[in-house]
Amino acid sequence: MNGEFWSAGECMLELRPQPDGTILHAAAGDSYNTAVYMKRLVPALPVRYLSALGDDAMSILIRNHMHAEHIDDSLVETRPGGTPGLYAIETDAGGERRFAYWRAQSAARSMLSAAHLAQLGAALAQCRVLLVTGITLAILDDDRRTALLALAETVRSAGGWVALDNNYRAALWDAATAAKWMDRAARVSTHALFSLDDEVVLHGAADPARALQRIESLGVPEVVLKFGAGGCLLGGSCGRAAHVPAVQVQALDTTAAGDSFNAGYLAQRLADATYIQAAEFACALAATVVMHHGAIIPAHAMPPLPALLDSES
Ligand SMILES: Nc1ncnc2c1ncn2[C@@H]1O[C@H](COP(=O)(O)OP(=O)(O)O)[C@@H](O)[C@H]1O
Ligand SMILES: [Mg+2]
Repeated sequence: MNGEFWSAGECMLELRPQPDGTILHAAAGDSYNTAVYMKRLVPALPVRYLSALGDDAMSILIRNHMHAEHIDDSLVETRPGGTPGLYAIETDAGGERRFAYWRAQSAARSMLSAAHLAQLGAALAQCRVLLVTGITLAILDDDRRTALLALAETVRSAGGWVALDNNYRAALWDAATAAKWMDRAARVSTHALFSLDDEVVLHGAADPARALQRIESLGVPEVVLKFGAGGCLLGGSCGRAAHVPAVQVQALDTTAAGDSFNAGYLAQRLADATYIQAAEFACALAATVVMHHGAIIPAHAMPPLPALLDSES
């Protein structure tokens, strides 16, 4: 498999206070989670993260987590004096989880400087898949959003894939702005890997079939609409709508269900699996992820990428 998988966005330091007063840390963020799952599924595929971090101790911890997962961080710009986004997961006495974020000033928001764009432009011919999410777009200003979509267009016109996950986060931007930029991004994407929940918030779609039609009408060749325990719908100009059910499991923590699904789906499609084969594996991986706590589950718990002996893509 030639070429690289690039994932653009914000990787944060996850802090988990422990009963004894210590704090455990990990790296997480939707685009980063997908990058980790992709690298684990296809170790031979170079996976590069595209972002910015500071030069402080917390940024170094994040880079160390990336290195431990074999994620190439050479496209993560270093912003002198900058700091990364952080979030803490607190669990109250009743077991209810609460997230607190410190991300408004994160260095990731300043990615895609002129120097960074020059570096990316020089390496862009290696990019086989570029992943962008609603969170990636949310944290950028309009000039950076435009620059990112221009990179995406270059990847697509060179025959690469541009995968977009809508991941709408109301705390980061308003729905009208998000809807406008998500549709712009969809128009340059080859793969829309959208959550029905987010599509409903942005466009008020009544049912999955209507939502699928709306996304298809933007001209995205390959569309996957994810809806939790209901599984997903496949569509786009390359095929007829098909429903793939979720694997029935007892979910413990649905964090990163959609992110791991994206990795499973794209890894299978890169290996020439059919849409259905790809979605079935993506559902199996996501079902495993929701049976574990946290965004990134232990590597040994993941189902391996199936060998495709008789695919008919
Ligand atoms: N409770 C669940 N049981 C089994 N599979 C699930 C469950 N929740 C999510 N999944 C799987 O993860 C995929 C993505 O989940 P979804 O909740 O739609 O995405 P997101 O996490 O982005 O909101 C679903 O299509 C399904 O395959
Ligand atoms: Mg999601």
